[in-house]
Amino acid sequence: MDAKKLVLVCCLIVLGIRLTFAQTCLETGNFTTNSGFGRNRDRILTSLPTNVSQNGGFFNASIGQGLDKVYAQALCRGDLSEQDCFIYVNFTAHQLISSCTNQKEAFSWDGDIPCLVRYSNASFFGVLALEPIQEQINPDDISDATSNVTQFFQIWGELMEAVATKASMGSSRLKYATGVAEEIQALMQCTPDLSQSDCSICLRTLVRRYTACCRTYQGGYVETPSCRMRWDLYTFFKPTADTVHLSLSSPPSASPPESTNKTSETIKDNKAGISSGTIAIIVVSIIVFVAIVAFICIRLRKRKNSKQEMNTADKEDGLESLESLQFQLKSVRKATDNFSQDNMLGQGGFGAVYKGRLDDGQEIAVKRLFQGSGQGGEEFKNEVMVMARLQHRNLVRLKGFCLERKERLLIFEFVPNSSLDHILFDPIKRPLLDWDTRYKIITGIARGLLYLHEDSQYRIVHRDLKAPNILLDEEMTPKISDFGMARLFGADQTRDNTRRVAGTFGYMAPEYIRQGKYSVKSDVYSFGVLILEIISGDKISHFRNNGADLLTYAWRNWREGTCLNLVDEHLRGGSGSRSEMTRSIHIGLLCVQESDANRPSMNSVVLMLIDASVSMPMPSTPAFMASATTVLSEASSSSDYNNSDQFTRNKVSISTLDPR
Ligand SMILES: *[C@@H]1O[C@H](CO)[C@@H](O)[C@H](O)[C@H]1NC(C)=O
Ligand SMILES: *[C@@H]1O[C@H](CO)[C@@H](O)[C@H](O)[C@H]1NC(C)=O
Ligand SMILES: *[C@@H]1O[C@H](CO)[C@@H](O)[C@H](O)[C@H]1NC(C)=O
Ligand SMILES: *[C@@H]1O[C@H](CO)[C@@H](O)[C@H](O)[C@H]1NC(C)=O
Ligand SMILES: *[C@@H]1O[C@H](CO)[C@@H](O)[C@H](O)[C@H]1NC(C)=O
Ligand SMILES: *[C@@H]1O[C@H](CO)[C@@H](O)[C@H](O)[C@H]1NC(C)=O
Ligand SMILES: *[C@@H]1O[C@H](CO)[C@@H](O)[C@H](O)[C@H]1NC(C)=O
Repeated sequence: MDAKKLVLVCCLIVLGIRLTFAQTCLETGNFTTNSGFGRNRDRILTSLPTNVSQNGGFFNASIGQGLDKVYAQALCRGDLSEQDCFIYVNFTAHQLISSCTNQKEAFSWDGDIPCLVRYSNASFFGVLALEPIQEQINPDDISDATSNVTQFFQIWGELMEAVATKASMGSSRLKYATGVAEEIQALMQCTPDLSQSDCSICLRTLVRRYTACCRTYQGGYVETPSCRMRWDLYTFFKPTADTVHLSLSSPPSASPPESTNKTSETIKDNKAGISSGTIAIIVVSIIVFVAIVAFICIRLRKRKNSKQEMNTADKEDGLESLESLQFQLKSVRKATDNFSQDNMLGQGGFGAVYKGRLDDGQEIAVKRLFQGSGQGGEEFKNEVMVMARLQHRNLVRLKGFCLERKERLLIFEFVPNSSLDHILFDPIKRPLLDWDTRYKIITGIARGLLYLHEDSQYRIVHRDLKAPNILLDEEMTPKISDFGMARLFGADQTRDNTRRVAGTFGYMAPEYIRQGKYSVKSDVYSFGVLILEIISGDKISHFRNNGADLLTYAWRNWREGTCLNLVDEHLRGGSGSRSEMTRSIHIGLLCVQESDANRPSMNSVVLMLIDASVSMPMPSTPAFMASATTVLSEASSSSDYNNSDQFTRNKVSISTLDPR
């Protein structure tokens, strides 16, 4: 019993690395630290674990008066034991307290931690919340897992319908259902304070959303603060006698009777309990309706723009979400004053960036991609969809795109403080960056990169991480930009060899320069260079007085035990933690090691940054980048970069801390 608990807690601590990204701290309002609201929030959240586990897995409460009143709610997944419920809620509540430091409203309902914790300054009990909605998918394609996709979608739709119906018919203490059809496993749950019809609307919204964006993948989940659905091709919940079973051979007559208040889009997928006459009528009317709508749309589009590519496959998958991302060229032109020179923010490897202001006052940054990127319109849209789904505090948010005539535009949120290089390498502004800010920037970049590499489920390799691609907002929170560009430009996935070596000299890993070989570890290399730049305030390309470049200088001082020599002179007199500085240099040197196998994963990097007790291996020699010719002439002898035993052993001790 105790041993099991211990293991669980250990797992949670490790998972915590991932989990720090799962909290949604809503920006509806802030409270001040040490206010009555803050104290009430902490008190109520810390009281939740006991109360929820002793109340059958669901609990809501409020505390305080007037403006200091806090409402909170916790819900455990329907199959958790009392003890597990306690542990998970305790963990989640503490995570919310530490990550949503000032927000009046937040919730967490993460894939790996099967519980919901939510609080707000306004009452939300019994209120259906369909926003914010978030999803995560298992990126493998469904056609790899089944031979008949049509049949698969059919049974998938039937199962979702049956499980949603069953979950919404639960009690006021528990609205939870699971189901199995062939290899498909599904789980749905609403907060039980919702009415039956609200729960049903909530779950069907999720199913619809999932169908629109992600049905072709091998599993995933979608959630709002009020309900959650997850499905996968493996068992991830405890099956019980109540689990719905559907099979191909027997039509799903076992599914419960339909509510007559169905929303129109669920009718399409749902045949159970309706006579075949009704089906015929419904099907015929839907076909006629769709045909008319499609006809009108096509006519309208043709008239508007005869050249525009239009694929009717859009109709099935993601037309809705794609549409919401689509901007009109007209309005972008207007927002940027027809891409005027005055509005140009900069020019990057992928095109020029313009500042713009939409009609509603919203500020945007528009990236106008070079023409002829070689990608078809459909591919472009798909990649935009992937990028739009990448949402993290440390990534610049993609708001939409525009694909008209020859223009390919990406529309991003506007980040006010320009980029890291403008501050870090400016002799006047650099002193403004104290150590705490720099450390925050380092950690933020690490988290954003970890999300790209591992948490987002897409495994995005950035390929061009450098100071100009780190934007800073008013609070100096770093936001990585230009991620996913490699995908847009035709290169793909985790590892691939490219003939065209594109990147920024100094930040490029040696294996990339030599062999065009790129992996997440090449991003880790660029990150290491960034750390050393942030600490020293020196550009990687800047040569020191004694002729050594930044990496050589850092390595030499590290070996001589004088690594603090590297630290920016503006920080030397300050109050910044010397041990944090030393640790950061250490991490930076681990990241720029010659051999990509020796470099830590971003997961280990984040762990080393946030937990000072994690032991770190000794770095081996970095890849010296003193001149391009040295590197290129070394290319032939690259075989003698074998790991020494000592480092491999050390590395193992770190990688055991990786969650997966
Ligand atoms: C919650 O806080 C927000 C922002 O401070 C405020 O606008 C809203 O009125 C508050 N709601 C209640 C019920 O106090
Ligand atoms: C709350 O604080 C965040 C940063 O902590 C800030 O971005 C936001 O504008 C603030 N919101 C309000 C309503 O004051
Ligand atoms: C929740 O539990 C705490 C003890 O942990 C108790 O003092 C408190 O009264 C409970 N809250 C409610 C609303 O019942
Ligand atoms: C939830 O809150 C409402 C309103 O305060 C209360 O009536 C109800 O009993 C609470 N439910 C639970 C399970 O605590
Ligand atoms: C609750 O979680 C916190 C932080 O994760 C931990 O320090 C504390 O020991 C936990 N409490 C219990 C009773 O497990
Ligand atoms: C796939 O399944 C559908 C519906 O069950 C069936 O009509 C179709 O013939 C199947 N296709 C193949 C290639 O087996
Ligand atoms: C369906 O709607 C009717 C009124 O239109 C309402 O009386 C009934 O309760 C609803 N049923 C469900 C299951 O929501």
